[in-house]
Amino acid sequence: MGSVNPSIDLAHDGDIAVVTIDNPPVNALKHEVRAGLIEAFQRVRNDAGVKAAVLACAGRTFSAGADISEFGKPRRAPGLIEVIETIEETGKPVVAALHGTPLGGGFELALGCHYRVAAPGTRVGLPEIKLGLLPGAGGTQRLPRLIGPERALQLILSGNPTPVEELKEDGVVDAIVTGDVVKEAIAFARKVVAEKRPLTRVRDREDRLAAARADPSGFTRAADASTKRARGLRAVAACVESVRNSFDKPFGEGQARELELFMELLTSEESRAQRHIFFAEREAQKVPDMPAGVKPREVRKGGVIGAGTMGGGIAMNFANAGIPVTIVETAQDALDRGLATIRKNYASTVSRGGLTQEEGDRRVALITGSIDFAALADADFIIEAVFEEMDLKKRIFADLDRIAKPGAILATNTSTLDVNEIAAVTKRPQDVLGTHFFSPANVMKLLEIVRGEKTAFDALATAIAVGRKMAKVPVVVGVCYGFVGNRMLHQRTKEAERLILEGALPQDVDAVLTEFGFPMGPFAMGDLAGIDVGWRIRKGRGERAEISDTLAEMGRFGQKTGAGYFRYEGSARTPIPDPEVEKIIIDASNRLGIQRRTIDKKEILERLVFPMINEGARILEEGIAYRPGDVDVVWVYGYGWPVWRGGPMFYADQIGLPYLCDRLAAYAARSDNKALEPAPLLTRLARDGRGFAAKASEDKAA
Ligand SMILES: NC(=O)c1ccc[n+]([C@@H]2O[C@H](COP(=O)([O-])OP(=O)(O)OC[C@H]3O[C@@H](n4cnc5c(N)ncnc54)[C@H](O)[C@@H]3O)[C@@H](O)[C@H]2O)c1
Repeated sequence: MGSVNPSIDLAHDGDIAVVTIDNPPVNALKHEVRAGLIEAFQRVRNDAGVKAAVLACAGRTFSAGADISEFGKPRRAPGLIEVIETIEETGKPVVAALHGTPLGGGFELALGCHYRVAAPGTRVGLPEIKLGLLPGAGGTQRLPRLIGPERALQLILSGNPTPVEELKEDGVVDAIVTGDVVKEAIAFARKVVAEKRPLTRVRDREDRLAAARADPSGFTRAADASTKRARGLRAVAACVESVRNSFDKPFGEGQARELELFMELLTSEESRAQRHIFFAEREAQKVPDMPAGVKPREVRKGGVIGAGTMGGGIAMNFANAGIPVTIVETAQDALDRGLATIRKNYASTVSRGGLTQEEGDRRVALITGSIDFAALADADFIIEAVFEEMDLKKRIFADLDRIAKPGAILATNTSTLDVNEIAAVTKRPQDVLGTHFFSPANVMKLLEIVRGEKTAFDALATAIAVGRKMAKVPVVVGVCYGFVGNRMLHQRTKEAERLILEGALPQDVDAVLTEFGFPMGPFAMGDLAGIDVGWRIRKGRGERAEISDTLAEMGRFGQKTGAGYFRYEGSARTPIPDPEVEKIIIDASNRLGIQRRTIDKKEILERLVFPMINEGARILEEGIAYRPGDVDVVWVYGYGWPVWRGGPMFYADQIGLPYLCDRLAAYAARSDNKALEPAPLLTRLARDGRGFAAKASEDKAA
């Protein structure tokens, strides 16, 4: 309990005042904190016995920013800008004592202090861009005054936390101190008083702006490059404009414009979408029927079966999480190949500067290999990643049942097979679940955790906890063919093939999706993943996709053979439209008696995206996904859906479900694809004038 209010304490160490924010878990700057800080610093100003002040935070971190749950609500004064101005006007030196992750508004608060000292390993940053915003409490004006406009723009546009050690030279912090950071900050404040250092506010500093004022061409070049990369994202343009103001305009004008831009972005569709994903990602880790108090099991050792494409990446994930892991293969040469690939991957991360040599070596050392299944006997979490064959997986799970220790989690990385059927071959189906990683498994953030009929709650909790430790975004899904992501993708792929048979070309279809914001379209993605994969699956199921399978039969497997839907030159990955493919497509249309026609961009987009949304509605109705937001998270983190469009279900609400239903019905009427008929849930919501978001909040309340 603080002496100013429940979140703010004011204490004294001799003639140094110590103001402490105590608002667990991350000292977010909610209204009570802001009001208490103003009160505390007014007292500091008025207390003649106080010579200087320290601003510190209790708990694990200096303030990590605004309380973003307040974002949708009317603003309550005082705002953070007033808090910072009060600190600047204290008339006495204020030293921020930083530890943990001072981010966003928390970092802006620190920039409003006269000095900053930090504990080693403190990471600072302005992550607002990740929510489609810009720092709105002076960050774009003060940071350039400390580190120069170009460097400030770089940090603001990356949004990533940066260790203070990397910024010390730049002048973000005045000292990095070992020992108790608050005590050190008090000592620092005493020194400032004793040395009678002038009381300079960051807003008044001009030295770092001089170079850009004299010659802004460097800034302009960097800004132009960022704006171009951002392809019209408003938040990026706003950050650029605002940072430019820091050296183009007086502080007051720059700050006023910053606030204006912030308010504009706050109500933008893009930022609403990004904030939706921010919350949805956190929500997705909750299993609605999980009883309170369920604890994850302890995982000290991991196991992976199969050192192929996925197994190697999964083993790296264990090592990245600091968990020792053993990979088991059938033969020494396959194992050696797998381990060599892992070493190569780490070496390349080290050479790109992503890891220190020492850390790379440490991770490699956590991974051991064996061709003896018994090596998994002491593993707590075992993930099977062998060929996609049911009989093989069943044999492996029966073996695992015999050798794995009691309570070990037995997971399969299957993309299509029935997890319940696999679990049924063991005497411990409660310990079996799916962990569906995406390729490349060490890179892609999404992890679908497949909950079997009998999976125990603590087994699920363990998978979620391990997934988070691996820095993945876990989403719990139910058992069905393709789970959430691939099941929806399947609908898109089918329509993409229909579109090219009816008159579009692969490059037309892909261009529509890249304009929408995807990193690549369905055909470039098919070439990347390998056209032969789907061809083999379809052969097994007695199905045929006319064009894709024709290409596969010609040996055009995609990038790996230098040609697929597109052709590729040398080792370049740029898809080049291929007249030969155009001929194959036109021949196929003729063969099937399809009259080719010009298809406009709007139809292409609708026919790619609406069937996915429709399938998403079925997935929700069947309970395969718990919430519309879970589906959105799957698509943003697993398939490159542009985050500023908030995922397919969020997007559906934006365009309106009645329109969506009408269009789907119209497309269904022209097609033999039954899946295009509007899903019952979609029809119901549209009829009732509701959206997926409304449904989600009602389900949550229920
Ligand atoms: N490749 C992808 O993009 C992707 C994505 C998600 C999920 N998956 C799934 O992951 C699994 C593995 O796929 P992959 O692409 O890594 O396959 P892969 O062919 O690259 O690797 C499979 C490995 O398993 C090994 N193996 C086979 N039988 C074994 C046994 N009895 N004991 C130990 N090792 C054995 C093989 O030697 C091979 O190295 C499949 O179920 C697949 O559906 C793949």
